Amino acid sequence: MIRVLFVCLGNICRSPMAEGIFQHLVEEAGLSDQIVVDSAGTGSWHVGEPAHRGTREVLRRHGIDYTGRARQFTRSDLDRFDYILAMDHENLSAIRARANGSTDAEIGLFMDYAPDAGVREVPDPYYSGRFEEVYKLVRQGAEGLLAHIREKHGL
Ligand code: 4NP
Repeated sequence: MIRVLFVCLGNICRSPMAEGIFQHLVEEAGLSDQIVVDSAGTGSWHVGEPAHRGTREVLRRHGIDYTGRARQFTRSDLDRFDYILAMDHENLSAIRARANGSTDAEIGLFMDYAPDAGVREVPDPYYSGRFEEVYKLVRQGAEGLLAHIREKHGL
């Protein structure tokens, strides 16, 4: 099993969007029995809540059903996941600080898997309300990440 975790701040806007889109692509590719997907937030404010209405609506418009609830990123995620992808530099730093050098997981910025998108961070729609724009970016990141994983693992 290849385990992939998406991480943002609240786990209600960006990382659930990445999880929903990536899960959808994994299912389309027939790889659900080989790739497991989850998301978490470095902050705890929204633990237990469903994804933001904007994220749920944009996913639904694109044919993706998302029912996950927010949880906080923990130290044990560093042992449980093979890929831990941060939505921005701040969250990447928080993950790295918790890892403190000791993890086998591939940790990085999610958008680095889609260099053509021209951004390294996913802007936070919690503040901008621009869920559709963010969807387009996250979709590119998810496609790039899946291509990377398929190549690396021969899937
Ligand atoms: P997210 O967006 O990290 O993409 O889930 C945010 C959600 C909530 C807050 C900040 C960002 N907040 O400060 O409550």
